[in-house]
Amino acid sequence: MISQATIEEIKERANLVDLVGESVNLKRNGANYTGLCPFHSEKSPSFHIRDNGRFYHCFGCGVSGTAITYIMESRGLSFPDAIEELAARYGIEVKKEGGVAPREDAPHKDVFWQINKSALEFYRSQLQSAEPSVKEYLTSRRLSGKALSEFAVGFAPKQWGAFCEYAKKQGFEEEMLLQSGLVRRSPRGDLYDTFRARVIFPILVEGRKVAGFGGRIVPGLLDEASLKTSPKYLNSPETAVYQKNKILYGMPQALESIRRKKELYLVEGYMDVIGLWQAGVTNTVATCGTATSENHVKRLQHLVERVVVLFDGDVAGRSAAARCFGVFLNSGIDIAALFLPEDEDPDTIALQHGSKTDEYLASLEKIPLIDCYIESLLQKSGWKDVKELGAAAKGKLAEEVAAALSKVRNSIEQSELIERAAMKLMVEPDLFSALIKKTDGVPPSDRTPKEVPSRNSGAASLRISVDELPKLDRELLQAVMVDKERLAGQFLRDSDICEGVHPATLRFIEGLHGIVSNDSVSDASKREGVKALLKDFGDSWLRLWKEAYLMLNDAGVDFARSVEQNRSFLKKSKLKQAITEIDRRVALAGSDQERAELVHEKVLLKRRLEQV
Ligand code: UTP
Ligand code: MN
Repeated sequence: MISQATIEEIKERANLVDLVGESVNLKRNGANYTGLCPFHSEKSPSFHIRDNGRFYHCFGCGVSGTAITYIMESRGLSFPDAIEELAARYGIEVKKEGGVAPREDAPHKDVFWQINKSALEFYRSQLQSAEPSVKEYLTSRRLSGKALSEFAVGFAPKQWGAFCEYAKKQGFEEEMLLQSGLVRRSPRGDLYDTFRARVIFPILVEGRKVAGFGGRIVPGLLDEASLKTSPKYLNSPETAVYQKNKILYGMPQALESIRRKKELYLVEGYMDVIGLWQAGVTNTVATCGTATSENHVKRLQHLVERVVVLFDGDVAGRSAAARCFGVFLNSGIDIAALFLPEDEDPDTIALQHGSKTDEYLASLEKIPLIDCYIESLLQKSGWKDVKELGAAAKGKLAEEVAAALSKVRNSIEQSELIERAAMKLMVEPDLFSALIKKTDGVPPSDRTPKEVPSRNSGAASLRISVDELPKLDRELLQAVMVDKERLAGQFLRDSDICEGVHPATLRFIEGLHGIVSNDSVSDASKREGVKALLKDFGDSWLRLWKEAYLMLNDAGVDFARSVEQNRSFLKKSKLKQAITEIDRRVALAGSDQERAELVHEKVLLKRRLEQV
């Protein structure tokens, strides 16, 4: 867990004038700054930065917070990731404490970011001077200059060592270049470039840092034989800065539009993202040559309400969509699939429909993923249609679907899915429903922990009793305790919560998130991790944990409502704080005009307050 000292140091040192100033024109106004709000569109500036760059508030849309919330909100980062980002930027060391689920420290992260940045510059400049056949190829794919620059598309020349030479001149060590995957060693021991004769698609992440690359072969540059033997696309390997199961291609370019629409298209290819972007469908991202993972879903959870999977209509595309069903289950995101006509992909669709692509996509039938899931189960057992199934086969299939649906935690969502599945399977809804076993998703050993931690265990700094925490904190904690997989991440992405709760609460949630989101460990060791965390925090936390499960299992308490109430309470207090601040400034106002403006701002804020 991140130490409180680190958080304080970041709040102290990070300056919103620098951070916001990167994308917004700020005007100085005494000790404060104003500009057009980065969080909503407006014509006259109502975004204010105060307290020597430590606090912002927008009188137009009501957002407010510190550098940490600014980075969380503007980049769609979680609390720990925002801390890392700011720490890196201001050269602050992130100190950890508590000893629970430490995030792995990758010593070479910086080197990889630098190598990739350098490589991007190299590939970009190579595109400028590339031979005509390369430019012809890009033209044939109808990539506009604007798209090439937005997606920082580059070119890797055909020579074996062009990038190697360049990178060595930049002073990068061979070992690091090899690890970056951009350079390989031949059996004879020479280094050579991984990407040759390829159009390069840099994989950009928050802050437009370069995590890795994809490279597509340029047909005109290769002879028949090499064309046949080289893969169409090559991708960077996983490195400390490139984890394929977390990164979505096109995210920085799509973020603003995704945020606005709360919906996105998930596609398969680099060219699909760029093609749709050119056609104005800017809320599109792709997985990077991998299946959609739980980590991708986590990244999207607090960004969108709805995902539309846009894959090829062939068997592979349909089964990829079916796999998404399980991954998005319980994510709180509604997901549907659109399948394109045979031999089309989103890129070709975008070329055909141009600025009408959005309309065209909207006109296609959206298929609920439960349908795709059932179809893929059918397909796997060699059937074409439910109608073909005999009684036994249908029974088996229904059981398999029921097993998947029994994992759905929200009962309304579950009953909708049951209804849809029963229809698709052509079975009596009541009979099908009876197959669903109620599970609460809580392993029995978590419900009644046998081992009670001793009083003196754990880090002293964490030792605050839950009884000393505000009621709001205790309620949020109980909710996250019983629904940790979903809520821990959600809370860490909610800046009102992260900045509004007691530091101990925040650190507990962080610790819990670190444990449950670690996909590389077994459920048993996750349970051990949770036990250790509770032990660190002390008896009262364990008591709260047990109470929460009793409330859930015995009293059937639904925590969702208390979470919502507490969230809006935190939002309201932020607004009230801003109103108090205006009152203070009204009292100090030097002119009638200033006073009138402030009063107007106050009216806007009050209106927002009523809407929470
Ligand atoms: P596609 O074969 O559908 O390619 O692969 P595409 O995106 O339509 O590309 P164009 O239009 O022929 O240029 C979809 C995605 O699968 C991954 C890449 O991420 C690609 O964008 N892929 C494909 C690979 O990683 N390697 C391959 O050899 C092929
Ligand atoms: Mn294509």
